[in-house]
Amino acid sequence: MVKNKELKVSAIKDGTVIDHIPATHLFKVISILGLDKIKNQITFGTNLESHQQGHKAIIKVADKFFKDEEINKISLVAPHAKLNIIKEYEVVEKKAVEIPENIVGIAKCFNPKCVTNNEEMITRFSLVQEEPVALKCHYCEKITNEEHLHIK
Ligand code: CTP
Ligand code: ZN
Repeated sequence: MVKNKELKVSAIKDGTVIDHIPATHLFKVISILGLDKIKNQITFGTNLESHQQGHKAIIKVADKFFKDEEINKISLVAPHAKLNIIKEYEVVEKKAVEIPENIVGIAKCFNPKCVTNNEEMITRFSLVQEEPVALKCHYCEKITNEEHLHIK
């Protein structure tokens, strides 16, 4: 295959490229991964055309290799994200994100009366459905669905 495509965001030497993020959720992904708090070089592009989704975003983090449990947190907002591990400019591995069975400290319970919304504590949910995502609160047992999902 002839590779004559232009890279819309510069190639990186070593690190992780997170591709196929819904453009609407780019900043949620940045916040979930704490990318706003690290010193690595980060480039991103958004509202890029995608054949799979309407508009996608891409994030490139130099010299960062995420643990699966870190990266799987973004699955709630970017279930079709693809990870590309880059070493010496080459893609050495591709991975898909997976939704964890237990979601700890990421999502907010939609029930205003839930203890997690009234005390300083970490939320816990179990996954009841993947797409659209539905989470059952460990404390109040109410289901938070995609429509009501807020990421902390
Ligand atoms: N990439 C990069 N720096 C490199 C190599 C690749 O930033 N040194 C990025 C590319 O821009 C692309 C992603 O990593 O967004 C995956 O690269 P590659 O597998 O070469 O691209 P595609 O074949 O388009 O991948 P796919 O169709 O799986 O998205
Ligand atoms: Zn709750």
